[in-house]
Amino acid sequence: MSYQIAVLAGDGIGPEVMAEARKVLSAVEARFALEMEYAEFDVGGIAIDKHGCPLPAATLQGCAAADAILFGSVGGPKWEKLPPNEQPERGALLPLRGHFELFCNLRPAKLHSGLEHMSPLRSDISARGFDVLCVRELTGGIYFGKPKGRQGEGEDEEAFDTMRYSRREIARIARIAFEAARGRRKKVTSVDKANVLACSVLWRQVVEEVARDFPDVELEHIYIDNATMQLLRRPHEFDVMLCSNLFGDILSDEIAMLTGSMGLLASASMNAGGFGLFEPAGGSAPDIAGKGIANPVAQILSAALMLRHSLKQEAAAAAIERAVGKALADGYLTGELLSAEHRADAKTTTQMGDYIAKAIREGV
Ligand code: NAD
Ligand code: IPM
Ligand code: MN
Repeated sequence: MSYQIAVLAGDGIGPEVMAEARKVLSAVEARFALEMEYAEFDVGGIAIDKHGCPLPAATLQGCAAADAILFGSVGGPKWEKLPPNEQPERGALLPLRGHFELFCNLRPAKLHSGLEHMSPLRSDISARGFDVLCVRELTGGIYFGKPKGRQGEGEDEEAFDTMRYSRREIARIARIAFEAARGRRKKVTSVDKANVLACSVLWRQVVEEVARDFPDVELEHIYIDNATMQLLRRPHEFDVMLCSNLFGDILSDEIAMLTGSMGLLASASMNAGGFGLFEPAGGSAPDIAGKGIANPVAQILSAALMLRHSLKQEAAAAAIERAVGKALADGYLTGELLSAEHRADAKTTTQMGDYIAKAIREGV
């Protein structure tokens, strides 16, 4: 049986890091006798430039026909002045998440051995390491709530977004967090702002109801502001962090940086049927795009999440993760992971992909 993968590399560093993920996928295909077929589609800014819209019908159809979507990143300064709904993020990525009902976003982050010194954490804290799974609700909350818009003029002009969550939306993502915790350290930290937001009060209530089905899992609640600081103080005490859409977005960038770089954090966005879009948690990184220096690890680990969650190829997924772990432990690093005095040793995007693919071929 062969798997059909829709490849949407997108903008900025997207195509650069996607090339390395493809290289690594070829290595696991050979080693694990997998058959994968890839179809490439335009998305985001490049699709605006070529076809006049960020999510062409052919791209959406290609995604619908595939077993999984491997996504790079979209957006950049060139398209920032367009009307909001025509921009890459709001015109392509969010509609893709909404269309396929990819409500379940998993962002696993751990401090890799060898990278303790590259974490911005204080050394006694980074020495303890951490392993956090951010479970982010991805198709509700303030991102998708209606009404959303602008009205009025002059000094009275105003803009508004609506934060809205239903019991159903909260319960289904909470259930995922508890189930994930069962396979880990059996602790869920639910992140909210229940001291201010009505959505968070309902969120807390529903999470507690779901928790009753998981008596073996510890549940704690934490306010988002406190969560951002406790992550810096005691990251090792967190296991699964259950977040609404906006809070998960913010916390996941913080967690990524605690591991040393935005370029390390992978992400799986899935629907109830297990169909998913797999992408780095970071963006198109316009500041480093085109230089061949972006870290491809987040894209490569996103391919591993695709193999694990959508294609059910655990052995291949684990091999990719081991190969990435080896590269990092060997000190094989892109420049953003190195201090100024070691920057001369930085590996390029391509060198990273080659090294990881080679480790897989050699049976890591
Ligand atoms: P960003 O994540 O692109 O960049 C933030 C910082 O992290 C930059 O300094 C960048 O150089 C660094 N970084 C990110 N990925 C890296 C990698 N792989 N290797 C090394 N360094 C890396 O966030 P931003 O600058 O706020 O956003 C840039 C554009 O990307 C915007 O248009 C934004 O909307 C878009 N964006 C897209 C996605 C997506 O497609 N999933 C996600 C986030 C942001
Ligand atoms: C992410 C990104 C997106 C989000 C943007 C690009 C819409 O920041 O995947 O974290 O906010 O969800
Ligand atoms: Mn984000």
